[in-house]
Amino acid sequence: MAKKVVLAYTGGLETSICIHWLRYQKNLRVATFSANLGQGEYLEPVGERALEIGAEAAHVGDLRKRFVTDYVWPAVRAGAVYESGYLLANALTRPLIATELVKIALEDGAEYIAHGCTGKGNDQHRFEASVSALAPHIEILAPLQEWSFKSKEEEIAYAEKHNIRPLKVKKGVYSVDVCLWGRGVAAGPLEDPTIAPPEDAFEWTTSPANAPDAPREIEIGFEEGTPVALDGQPTAAIDIIDELNKVGGSHGVGRIDLMEDRIMGIKAREVYEAPAATLIYQAHRALEDLTMSKEMLLYREGASRAYAKLVYDGMWFSALRDSLDAFFSVSQKFVTGKIRLRLFKGTSTIVARESEFSLYDRNLARRGVGQAFGGAAAKGYFNIWNISRKMEADQRKRHLYRRADR
Ligand code: ARG
Repeated sequence: MAKKVVLAYTGGLETSICIHWLRYQKNLRVATFSANLGQGEYLEPVGERALEIGAEAAHVGDLRKRFVTDYVWPAVRAGAVYESGYLLANALTRPLIATELVKIALEDGAEYIAHGCTGKGNDQHRFEASVSALAPHIEILAPLQEWSFKSKEEEIAYAEKHNIRPLKVKKGVYSVDVCLWGRGVAAGPLEDPTIAPPEDAFEWTTSPANAPDAPREIEIGFEEGTPVALDGQPTAAIDIIDELNKVGGSHGVGRIDLMEDRIMGIKAREVYEAPAATLIYQAHRALEDLTMSKEMLLYREGASRAYAKLVYDGMWFSALRDSLDAFFSVSQKFVTGKIRLRLFKGTSTIVARESEFSLYDRNLARRGVGQAFGGAAAKGYFNIWNISRKMEADQRKRHLYRRADR
């Protein structure tokens, strides 16, 4: 009896070939899994196409809600930003997809899980790491690293020869990966970091130059660090993101152009469109600024970096992530309130913040009037507060005289 493999299937050229290749070159029984992560494609035909190409079972799942609740919101609470601004959309999807692949593999008694990732990218690490953590006995197959096709043309020739009809045919020169949290674009002209991204790289965002001449304000409400409302209306998670992608995108907000260090150490130029993520991160940060002590804000910084790196590197299923989630769920206890942003020609600006747990006290902050601490108290305070400055001044003096003595 042939062994079984569960393949992550997108409907694109390469994973379509993967079905055929696993079935007929590797003699495996193939089951596929395709996820709806808000990439805006209709999923039914993906399953049908998988069966047509040679899969014996085709699973599809709408993972959007779990994606937002269990992956995106924790990353928001953690303020996880990779390097100079990658908001991790694509990186967050892979561990979730892996949970489904593993679930199907365990139910079907499959020995293998397969993915269509290329050999230089990050996603192979994320599948490898996630599957290894969840089901260490399952072996991972990466057809793209094994098969002999050396170019897209050879792949197309194979597909034509075997009557494999991919559901999605890639248009244009870009490599694109989309989910509701963001759209990642690479390759083609973007490989030259000395030129600006051509306008046709963007689909979710209007060029700031063509954005409306009138600004638009929008208010995001948070409950313990999690977005829960838009303009005062309690709103479902997916709807918050869809709406902010629409509104932000129409004002040209959320274009991100980065040099990014991939896991293997290769630098890559990556372009993202992530209007909702941009606005939510900005608002969340502003609410933290209002409700967190300066010690918490500073400490949090390092934990946020660590969180972003572990997500990027594929270590979602790890004791470190569990531990950091515990930290961030406590740190977010007072991050409740609302933040108003103004969107205008590619920019978003915080214009108002409000929280029942604000640490801001207008009377304390006010200048001049009140002279809050009184003359004698202020003098005593500075006598003590200045000790370390005076010690350092004396230290510099001793150092200077010692050099002069020699
Ligand atoms: N660099 C991103 C990451 O590692 C993914 C980029 C999106 N993919 C693409 N084909 N442009 O998560």
